[in-house]
Amino acid sequence: MRKSVKNNVSWVGYIDWELETFHGDEYSITNGSSQNSYLIEEGKTVLIDTVWTPHRADFVENLKSEIDLKKIDFIVANHAECDHSGSLTTLMEEIPDTPIYCTAAFVKSVEGQFGKKGWNFNIVKTGDSVDIGNGKKLIFIEMKMLHWPDSMATYMTGDNILFSNDAFGQHFAVEELFADRANQCLLWKEALKYFVNILNPFAMLIPKKIEEIKGFNLPIDIIAPSHGAIWRESPMQIVEKYDEWAKAYQENQVTIAYDTMWEGTTKIAHKIASEIHNQSPETVVKLFNISKQDKNEIMTEVFKSKAIAVGSPTEMNDILSGVSGWLSFLKALKFKNKKAGAFGCYGWSGESVKILQDRLKDAGFNVIEENIKSLWNPDETDFEKIPEFVKSLLS
Ligand code: FEO
Repeated sequence: MRKSVKNNVSWVGYIDWELETFHGDEYSITNGSSQNSYLIEEGKTVLIDTVWTPHRADFVENLKSEIDLKKIDFIVANHAECDHSGSLTTLMEEIPDTPIYCTAAFVKSVEGQFGKKGWNFNIVKTGDSVDIGNGKKLIFIEMKMLHWPDSMATYMTGDNILFSNDAFGQHFAVEELFADRANQCLLWKEALKYFVNILNPFAMLIPKKIEEIKGFNLPIDIIAPSHGAIWRESPMQIVEKYDEWAKAYQENQVTIAYDTMWEGTTKIAHKIASEIHNQSPETVVKLFNISKQDKNEIMTEVFKSKAIAVGSPTEMNDILSGVSGWLSFLKALKFKNKKAGAFGCYGWSGESVKILQDRLKDAGFNVIEENIKSLWNPDETDFEKIPEFVKSLLS
């Protein structure tokens, strides 16, 4: 089934209501998702992107029910990751000679994944364009490392649509298709979670790319990403948000993330939370058990924070394995301009706090010297150190 986007542009993608995780188990999906593919029927008929490999048969059948596949003049492949290129193998069996417009890196990537198929690639670079009839054309904009080397966006003149691929998307199922029809709370929650957990490692490239796109002086009426809702009302609002989020964003918030064995480290976490409220009632405090709560949601809260406190008891001369894995992910996300402090209980050797401090420094955080290190269970002597710890974290 197709859905109208604007004039002769339709959505022909797949809404994935049952999806639970993405990128393996690296990204939690709590409100469904979609892989958006678009069909342009002007003088030329053009397909923009496909959908994820498991849905390839449904995708091609659906497309066949909408148009004669032989009428597709060419395909624009904005990105080689299999959630957008995974149906090409099935589609190209039906129309093997159809030109595919893409970047040079796309060819390398798609042939690496699916093998050399002898497809008719037309390599494009930023500023290249192709006529699609009726006075309209497609202009290509390379989006290198946003978020893969091959990533690209495509702009359609006349209807002023930016097909932005992964940029500006959300893992969010919206049957009504448009952002203005979606639940706004969920829309922005999912847009931010997506930015933090997928794009933040490349955030330093975003302001320059936004300037480059604005530099084309092309009117943008619609931003049609490859996941989630399409931005139609004030589409630049998501671009402005990306610009803001990409510049070491923070709110007046502190996030406390910890794991515990016998609840001692939990007690310290709760005391830190109440002392933050005591010293700075206007500061938002969020508290998470790393082993029990969704890591992508925790990272989104870390992104919003000006400081974090991370806790783990010592076990086997190390920190708990869940915290260790969480710190690896924290480092990969490349957060900037945030403070961090460490805390935890121990029984005899007590390495955890030092390990946490080192790992947090390695993840790019400004680590405070103050720490809370409690022998066995935390007592008043330990709690007396918390005001200084919090003061340093907030200053
Ligand atoms: Fe939605 Fe990078 O694939």
